[in-house]
Amino acid sequence: MKRIAVFTSGGDAPGMNACIRAVVRGAVYHGIEVYGIRRGYSGMIAGDIFQMSSHSVSNIVQRGGTILKSARSKEFMTPEGRRKAYDKLQEHGIDGLIAIGGNGTFTGAMTFHNEYGIPTVGAPGTIDNDLYGTDYTIGFDTAVNTALDAIDRIRDTASSHDRVFFIEVMGRDSGYIAIQSGIGGGAELVMVPEVLTPISEVVETLRQGWLRSKASSIVVVAEGEEEGSAAEIADKIKSQIEEDIDMRVTTLGHTQRGGSPSAYDRILASRLGLGALEGLLAGQKNVMAGIINNELVYTPFEDTIRLPKPINEDLLRMVKILSI
Ligand code: F6P
Repeated sequence: MKRIAVFTSGGDAPGMNACIRAVVRGAVYHGIEVYGIRRGYSGMIAGDIFQMSSHSVSNIVQRGGTILKSARSKEFMTPEGRRKAYDKLQEHGIDGLIAIGGNGTFTGAMTFHNEYGIPTVGAPGTIDNDLYGTDYTIGFDTAVNTALDAIDRIRDTASSHDRVFFIEVMGRDSGYIAIQSGIGGGAELVMVPEVLTPISEVVETLRQGWLRSKASSIVVVAEGEEEGSAAEIADKIKSQIEEDIDMRVTTLGHTQRGGSPSAYDRILASRLGLGALEGLLAGQKNVMAGIINNELVYTPFEDTIRLPKPINEDLLRMVKILSI
């Protein structure tokens, strides 16, 4: 392998830059030419491919977002799109790829590899932490801390006004951010897509708190929660609760995707970037680099995509006990 390319795809995540840096510097160290592809698969199709050097990644380890930019490409989902991408990679003489992203990124990488055989290794970059094959994904820790900071601020005002706040955090199909930020922020209840929480249970929890003179409460709701968005859940509860409880809703949204990565994310991203690169050079393909129990492991893309990453339901039990 003489020349590889690196790209970021799907939703960006704090720490992606640290990961790009590790891939580029690792390649330089091992005497491999390294190229960057802008805007993920869209840039691959468009041929937006450029050579990188050690200097290209100076001063980025602390920056949020991704210097390579990101996109979700519909065209790459078509055989014609993937053909164009392959032709552009051939033009540039690329013989290996490092894909930094989440589920959608690896689904694309696996299909592409099966069709054209270019060895590809992934590094898990998504705030959702929903990938099987790694304990944590790049960006998750920073997103949790961003959400936690917001929850702390909201608790101040909730307490001043004796209000109940429903705070919606990101996580399209996953409750990881909700659980961690909920426990850290001392939430009274956490609602996640993986576990059914009937509205009646939320009403009962709030009512019991009210009866115990708990004047303010925080309910953290994951974006993918089955009962609906935080606003919809608050409406349902208002119609079922007789007590005069003042309620507000805050959706944290994309604030969780930006910002300088935490120390944990910088180190994780550096390990995974270098791990992905060295795996590729050692002959790994169609796999994602991950860290499990502090060990670098490689998991087939198929498993990272197909296998669920269950949440620890005991943590939800803990939320209930600790908020009495
Ligand atoms: O996958 C990361 C994520 O932030 C999800 O939590 C969220 O549902 C989604 O991306 C939002 O995507 P977009 O930025 O395209 O709106």
